[in-house]
Amino acid sequence: MVYPAQKHVVKVFEHLVTSLPEAERTKPQVLLLAGETVQFRNDTDRELVFRQESNFYYLTGCTVPASYVLAAYQPGTSLSSNPSIDLFIPKAELADLMWSVPPPSLETAKQIHDVTSVDHPAALPAAIDTLLKALPGALFHTLPRNSPLFPVIPAEYPQQVLDADGAVTDAYLLSALHHARLVKDADEIAAIRKANEISSRAHEVVMRVLGKAVKGKIEAGAGAGVDRPLLPGEWLIEKEAEAEAIFVASCRREGSVHQSYLPIVAASTRASTLHYCCNDREFAWGPVKPHDHQNKNDFAHGEAKELNPQVLLIDAGCEWECYASDITRTMPVGNGGKFTPEARAIYELVLEMQKESFDIIKAGLHWDAVQLICHRTLVKGFQRLGIFKSPASAGSGSWNSEEAILASGDSAAFFPHGVGHSLGMDVHDVPTASKPGVNPTIGGITLGHESFYTYLRLRLPLEAGMVVTVEPGIYFSPHLLASIRESKHVNHDVLKRYEPVGGVRIEDVIVVTNNGYENLTTVKSDVDWVEKVCSGEI
Ligand code: GLY
Ligand code: MN
Ligand code: MN
Repeated sequence: MVYPAQKHVVKVFEHLVTSLPEAERTKPQVLLLAGETVQFRNDTDRELVFRQESNFYYLTGCTVPASYVLAAYQPGTSLSSNPSIDLFIPKAELADLMWSVPPPSLETAKQIHDVTSVDHPAALPAAIDTLLKALPGALFHTLPRNSPLFPVIPAEYPQQVLDADGAVTDAYLLSALHHARLVKDADEIAAIRKANEISSRAHEVVMRVLGKAVKGKIEAGAGAGVDRPLLPGEWLIEKEAEAEAIFVASCRREGSVHQSYLPIVAASTRASTLHYCCNDREFAWGPVKPHDHQNKNDFAHGEAKELNPQVLLIDAGCEWECYASDITRTMPVGNGGKFTPEARAIYELVLEMQKESFDIIKAGLHWDAVQLICHRTLVKGFQRLGIFKSPASAGSGSWNSEEAILASGDSAAFFPHGVGHSLGMDVHDVPTASKPGVNPTIGGITLGHESFYTYLRLRLPLEAGMVVTVEPGIYFSPHLLASIRESKHVNHDVLKRYEPVGGVRIEDVIVVTNNGYENLTTVKSDVDWVEKVCSGEI
């Protein structure tokens, strides 16, 4: 597939023009972007991982480092449906050929990119000059300059425009790009679907390796680990790092180049740390030795040992051609691959929060309503479990009613983050288009407590074609629980029983449709399937 760059350029210019002051809208518009360059580890010549800047990729589909794009558009002319898109990619130097894979030739680049022309950066000043002459009065747009967030455009190019009495602004382009990227087209959804399928299989691989081990079916052959290293089929998963390695290996062998973000692989109570990504501890082992609870890596090697019942939370997803996936599964470890009763109850409640969300999601619904329904479901579920008090006599006006607990904000100590976010090329995608500056009042919805929305990254009515995550969770973080230790709504003895669960999150990626949604995440999450796989029964 040739990436649909021209369609994206038109969409961005259309958003751009509507965001301009009235007097500027009929003028020719030009955009100039620099692509990402190869970075090096401080003070060395060793490359860091290269990944194209998302906005540059959106406009070009080009992954060549140190490239530029210059595009021109004018409402009411042929340039509005057929903007000129000039791509500039570096010329291959001998050193490039010797040390690394060189950029494609201009001929090849023309074939693989949906652009008007391809040349080398040395031709960029002449191309700017041509546009200045052909489109007098054009407004030149860049991403925010002097910002560490975007590749630097050398000052000589904007200066060239200014020297010709042209106008340059960085006030509009980023917002136009983010708004264009918020609603995905079919090609983008196909890439996100592929990333989700690969990541779904990787989650399932981890679960199946855990299950095989429970059944004693992972056997090390003769000499393994002594005369020769273990082979992949001989690896057990007994540490977070081993689970991470298997997840990443599974994605990599299916051709994915990058993870969308650092994998979060958290066992036991570390699952309560939302963006835990050190992934460097052993699982919790029993019976307990003095240093066991610290999960030191040198614990108990060579001795008979048994895993404590615990959860393993993996929040990880790979990229496919610059498009992300973002999936969380929480699986049982120890206890024969089954959840403890407490962990199972919390897991089922998180799944219910997700199901209630799915039931209402469709184009037109404000995302705040999904956040609220998750808190409402949590409150009801905690009342059933006895974590929140629920006197039999509680009427709707009671100090312990569902509404009163919602209004207290206490549920935010257990579900502190947003239920989901826009996802696209970036995992937390298009931030400037995801939240209005001032959140509107939403008719008909009782909003609960303002703390529910503190970390909500999406605060908009849904539109068909938006891709979002749905990722409720329940956590028992000592730091967050400090705020409800004195709460009159909480049965503190009951809460104590649940705290060792640590945390449960379940996260899928969906595309919003007019009548509902389509789930792009294919790995299952129902408790029976997860337990059967993790215990090696299927
Ligand atoms: N993986 C980060 C998130 O779920 O938002
Ligand atoms: Mn997410
Ligand atoms: Mn995630």
